[in-house]
Amino acid sequence: MATEKTTAQSSDSISSVLSERRKFPPSAEFSSNANVSSMEQYEKLYADAAADPEKYWGEQAEQFHWFKKWDTVLDWKPPYAKWYDGGKTNICYNAIDVHVKSWRKNKAAIIWEGEEGNERILTYGELHRQVCKFANVLKIAGIKPGDRVAIYMGMVPELIIAVLACARVGAVHNVIFAGFSAHAITERVNDSRAKLVICADGTRRRGGSINLKNIVDEAIVNTPSVRSVIVLKVTNETVHMHDGMDHWWHDLMGLAVDDCEPAQLDSEHPLFVLYTSGSTGKPKGILHTTAGYMVHAATSFKYVFDIKDEDIYFCTADVGWITGHTYMAYGPLLNGATVFMYEGAPNYPQWDRFWDIINRHKITIFYTAPTAIRAFIRAGNEWVTKHDLRSLRLLGTVGEPINPEAWMWYHKYVGQEKCPIVDTWWQTETGGIMVSPLPGATPTKPGTATRPLPGIMVDVVRKDGTTCDANEGGYLVIKQPWPSMLRTIYGDNERYEKTYWSEFQNMYFTGDGARKDDDGYIWIMGRVDDVVNVSGHRLGTSEVESALVSHESVAEAAVVSRPDEIKGNALVAFVTLKDEYEGDMKLREALRNHVAKEIGPIAKPDEIRWAKGLPKTRSGKIMRRLLRELATSNEVKGDVTTLEDFGVLETLRGQEDEN
Ligand code: PRX
Repeated sequence: MATEKTTAQSSDSISSVLSERRKFPPSAEFSSNANVSSMEQYEKLYADAAADPEKYWGEQAEQFHWFKKWDTVLDWKPPYAKWYDGGKTNICYNAIDVHVKSWRKNKAAIIWEGEEGNERILTYGELHRQVCKFANVLKIAGIKPGDRVAIYMGMVPELIIAVLACARVGAVHNVIFAGFSAHAITERVNDSRAKLVICADGTRRRGGSINLKNIVDEAIVNTPSVRSVIVLKVTNETVHMHDGMDHWWHDLMGLAVDDCEPAQLDSEHPLFVLYTSGSTGKPKGILHTTAGYMVHAATSFKYVFDIKDEDIYFCTADVGWITGHTYMAYGPLLNGATVFMYEGAPNYPQWDRFWDIINRHKITIFYTAPTAIRAFIRAGNEWVTKHDLRSLRLLGTVGEPINPEAWMWYHKYVGQEKCPIVDTWWQTETGGIMVSPLPGATPTKPGTATRPLPGIMVDVVRKDGTTCDANEGGYLVIKQPWPSMLRTIYGDNERYEKTYWSEFQNMYFTGDGARKDDDGYIWIMGRVDDVVNVSGHRLGTSEVESALVSHESVAEAAVVSRPDEIKGNALVAFVTLKDEYEGDMKLREALRNHVAKEIGPIAKPDEIRWAKGLPKTRSGKIMRRLLRELATSNEVKGDVTTLEDFGVLETLRGQEDEN
């Protein structure tokens, strides 16, 4: 119920967000059954954890199986942390074996549905059997603890099986989103020096299929570290199997027994590398390690999603992103939950696919991204209202700020005005949720991720590191180490220190702007660096620029974002061509396709403007702020005194009609 209401504008400026006053406390019914059921309980948990973080994180870690208990909870030599040092554990053992030894053995771990409507159910017992067999396959393939394994497949249960099998033997998984191009795979495999690639022959999408094996073939021509490729048959694509290099998943599984002791790994044993965009060209390999990640993935899932054994939890994220790692695979399984997994497009065969799934499978918890919600709003309410969604009890969002009107729509049409919404703020680097309502406790407000979880010390600070006043915009930082924090950027400690720890002393800098309101709720104002959030995915504008410049026709390029109703942000590229090239529609399309090939379709610029020259400072820095203004309003109002050549701005205006 709304306790107070004003007309909220769109979420594109601080002042418009400030006008949001609606507040939605959880219902008494929800609270009475919740794991944390009141603000008083949350406040106490938070205060106790803040008073003695190590005690709190030590207690959270007690629930897991340890082959050897830790000596110290935290060893902090800024900016390098060791959590649960001296301990030995295995996250795969905690995610499946412990359940197989309990009544959950025959409980559904994964309920999967393919785009064509086919279904599979894997119980914890069956998942365990498959993971053990595949772990033995990895051993047959010569994989040893610490070796990197790249995984490139669509959303099939075998993707989770492969991930868990790596964790079981101590191999470091590097999942590469199946929408990425051959070039992106090459870059990631080379950076992590992966020995093995696990892929599918193809993946289904909108009634057709995409041949993934061909993309892998193209990618690994230039990856000297790769010794073999394991191929899962999913779509029956025509594929070329190379002798000695390529092996069928099913052939190898036929050779493997289903008994495999989990490796007893040090707490800080590397678990996975996941690449994410940074503000300079090269993607960053975010490194997460075993025990700390396990503790926070599991406890945050339990608190934020208020999980119960009867729940069927549906997360729409791909395992190729961090959300899929933490809240599709590890978090739910560590809690013995039932996960629903879907391979296919959200609008196939029609715009009601998710609502149809929720009704048929009686989904109780649904976690998706604001960009999907905005697309559903545009498709029309009738797709939602024709389905019975009464099974739902909790909704979540992640990936970008949700504009209050999208939040209200989600609340009304999907949540039927009864489901709490958890707006969860976190990052690939944080490994798990940092700021989020606890659904049985926190009164929510549309557009804010509310308060930090117990044990998480976030703050909004000024450039000099001092805490901002209420409602003063500043930089979002994390003031204390947390168990699932990234440990470094794979192979690049210097970049790790510079990116996250150099801006403010002894504080982790998130790269996000934010403000705290009078209730201490955090309102995220978006990125403050050259990273943009398109459809909930982070893209470094410099990566797109590098891709453009790698085309033969391009001399120079600058990429900026402008607000977009559906995608959150749209990419606008200002391109200077080499003299011998003429900018026309055909070249525009060629450049867009070139970027798709270099990075993936999500990175395609929405608009390309030809620029005889780019606005630069006298020292040669491209003035992106001016380009952002031009891209958004076709005008430049801000300060241009540092601009070297005023003429270039004129020529950049007024090209919109051509696109
Ligand atoms: O800018 C924030 C935004 O997404 C960034 C992290 O992106 P990535 O590492 O790809 O992880 C996305 C999934 C965890 C953040 O720095 N972001 C994420 N969640 C929210 C958000 N912005 C506002 N509200 C959120 N709930």
